[in-house]
Amino acid sequence: MATFGKPRPAPAVPPDLLPVIRQSGVLTDKQFADVKDKVAGGDYPADPAALADRLVKENVLSDYQAKRFLANKSHGLVVGRYVILDRLGSGSMGRVYKAHHLMMDRLVAIKIIAPEIVSNERIIARFQREMKLVGRLDHPNVIRAFDADQVGKILYIVMEYVQGQSLAERMRKKSLSPAEVIDIGAQAALGLAHAHAQGIVHRDVKPSNLLLTDDRQVKVLDLGLGVLMEADNSTSFATADGITVGTIDYMSPEQACGREVDGRSDLFSLGCSMYHLMTGALPYPGESPIERMGRRIKNSPVPITQVRRDLPSALVRVLDKLLAHKPHERFQTAAEAAEALQALLRPRPRPPTPAAPNVEPVAEPKAEARVEAKPVPPPEASYEPIIIRITPEYPRWFRPLARLAESRPRAALAATILGLTAAFGVGALAAWLAGK
Ligand SMILES: Nc1ncnc2c1ncn2[C@@H]1O[C@H](COP(=O)(O)OP(=O)(O)OP(=O)(O)O)[C@@H](O)[C@H]1O
Ligand SMILES: [Mg+2]
Repeated sequence: MATFGKPRPAPAVPPDLLPVIRQSGVLTDKQFADVKDKVAGGDYPADPAALADRLVKENVLSDYQAKRFLANKSHGLVVGRYVILDRLGSGSMGRVYKAHHLMMDRLVAIKIIAPEIVSNERIIARFQREMKLVGRLDHPNVIRAFDADQVGKILYIVMEYVQGQSLAERMRKKSLSPAEVIDIGAQAALGLAHAHAQGIVHRDVKPSNLLLTDDRQVKVLDLGLGVLMEADNSTSFATADGITVGTIDYMSPEQACGREVDGRSDLFSLGCSMYHLMTGALPYPGESPIERMGRRIKNSPVPITQVRRDLPSALVRVLDKLLAHKPHERFQTAAEAAEALQALLRPRPRPPTPAAPNVEPVAEPKAEARVEAKPVPPPEASYEPIIIRITPEYPRWFRPLARLAESRPRAALAATILGLTAAFGVGALAAWLAGK
């Protein structure tokens, strides 16, 4: 994690807050005059802590600004035309702030690249070239960039501000189901497909660079900033001052070896991120970064089936393809990967019989992504036997015997045998008399 400057002892609270506020530039002249008048008129307290508290309550200052003023820090709250409102987080490349564009009344996120990263003109030139491409990106699964600039040695990039949390934060708070991770992976792959089509390879796909909005949309963060890791080989993992840039835990083998990368490298990183989000473990674990890098280069991941035994084999196949060691064995485009992931969320066609013992458990997708399969109801079972009565037309003379056969079959049989014996006896007697 980058450290920017050494920690200094906390400065004393300023005796008067007004000059500090004035110097910061966060308020317009009119807003500042209004606050000043209210303090002079006794409407606002003069005590710095009480005044700061009041100004936060009345939304004149943000909490973050007030804390800085009470620490007697007036600098760094205005970047170009943006007023910093809050700190959103920090990473290996710099810090991210929530800011307000006064004239457009727009909330934005500003990433200020640490000066240590911007070590030479070549990096700045590559950053500027990449920003031209980043400016063209316009996709629901990509954070939009509005502006990028350089003030002195400081590079910054202005993006749309999105309410949500990165998947690294999300994973720390609550585990994600396989279906949620598949949906996240599919959305991220769509965002990456758009970036790749514009000629941008991310180079740093990882859970902290995937933002999950409050309405569960995934936005790929930090597109175009991967060049800061690549532009100068000496900054690939550790700068001269020991600042770690990027992490190898999601890097493709070709990137870890310092070879040329293309979009398929991002797909490998997406596969590593999905593996991590689904299992809480890394596919290439190890005590040290060197060990983890060695495993990745030697192609010895821990098969996901060893960490989670309950995953459907179709999902394991897709993950294995994302994580294939050689780029040509992976999905060849991010769109292809997105399609394969989306297909896992579609309900499978069910066999016509109601019981389907050979259907693998389909992970439950998020509500919007699931096309609910309406079970086909089985044909209504009829347990009432249908009795068909067949009544043949017997000759009149035979009907008494037929009736007897239906009601008393044994008696009918005996009567028939008796009748036939009698007829035979009579016939035999007549023949014998005739022969005499
Ligand atoms: N456009 C944005 N809207 C809202 N929050 C954002 C935005 N961009 C970044 N953030 C927040 O800022 C945090 C810090 O981002 P940052 O990129 O500095 O961290 P990182 O990804 O861990 O490190 P790095 O990318 O430098 O390796 C993110 O985790 C995210 O929560
Ligand atoms: Mg980031």
